[in-house]
Amino acid sequence: MRTIAVINLKGGVGKTTTVINTAAILARDYRQRVLLIDADSQCNTTDFFGVDAAAPSLADLLRDTASGVEDVVEEYIHHTSIKGVDIIPADVTLMDLDLTKVELGSVQAGTLRSVRTSLEEVDAYDWCLVDCPPAFNAASAAALIAADEVIIPIKLDAFSLRGMTNMMRQISNMRRINPGLKLSGCLPTMWYNSPQIVEAEETLKASGLPVFDHIRRTDKVDDMTFAQEPLLISSPRSAAGVDYRRFVRDLMKGGSHNG
Ligand SMILES: Nc1ncnc2c1ncn2[C@@H]1O[C@H](COP(=O)(O)OP(=O)(O)OP(=O)(O)O)[C@@H](O)[C@H]1O
Ligand SMILES: [Mg+2]
Repeated sequence: MRTIAVINLKGGVGKTTTVINTAAILARDYRQRVLLIDADSQCNTTDFFGVDAAAPSLADLLRDTASGVEDVVEEYIHHTSIKGVDIIPADVTLMDLDLTKVELGSVQAGTLRSVRTSLEEVDAYDWCLVDCPPAFNAASAAALIAADEVIIPIKLDAFSLRGMTNMMRQISNMRRINPGLKLSGCLPTMWYNSPQIVEAEETLKASGLPVFDHIRRTDKVDDMTFAQEPLLISSPRSAAGVDYRRFVRDLMKGGSHNG
């Protein structure tokens, strides 16, 4: 199983859009079995797939495991409308976990280990994709501890590029606990043809970080959130729909082009 944290401390960069469309393409085009973990108390992925807010969630799983309750991880897994895609949903109480002091070393080790163990137990999946919140908190720390790989969706603006330094620092901090954590690549999202965007993309590539080919900005992505259907179903021929398919092809081959 490839366990990938889709993370950026910056909000609104396309993390959730990437998780939803990657999962759908893996399952529908490649017959892969995908487990989504919604680690964001905004619950966007959970809501997208219409999972009942009262369903057993990631927060319940983390709390129960931390307090020694021996649960079967399957009890927290829900099927989605897409065959092959299951989800451990988020709920707003995930926010309460953020009260934990997230200083490195003072994170509740038991909780983090439990996430990893739970993921290993779930060997019914080829992929586990974690949709992270736009913050470094207990849930995102847990995701980085549990993951093998990181994908960083990035919107190409000056704020996001500057935020990358902080993001990379958090990842290297996490490598002290999870030394195998690999950056599969940054994924430029909402790309459009302007001199600034093109230059920002070049700057990102020149930084030496692995970078996937970009996903173009497409109005159909907003429509997708209303339709509650991934681009593969709602707008397969849209620019972002085509780009996400190419992205998944590259991901399956192992990573980004210049990684
Ligand atoms: N390729 C794209 N083209 C156009 N709009 C996009 C694209 N990707 C994402 N969006 C839009 O940008 C907004 C943010 O996307 P998304 O929710 O995936 O970001 P996020 O990083 O998960 O946000 P958050 O940090 O709040 O969790 C949404 O309105 C989404 O529809
Ligand atoms: Mg999101």
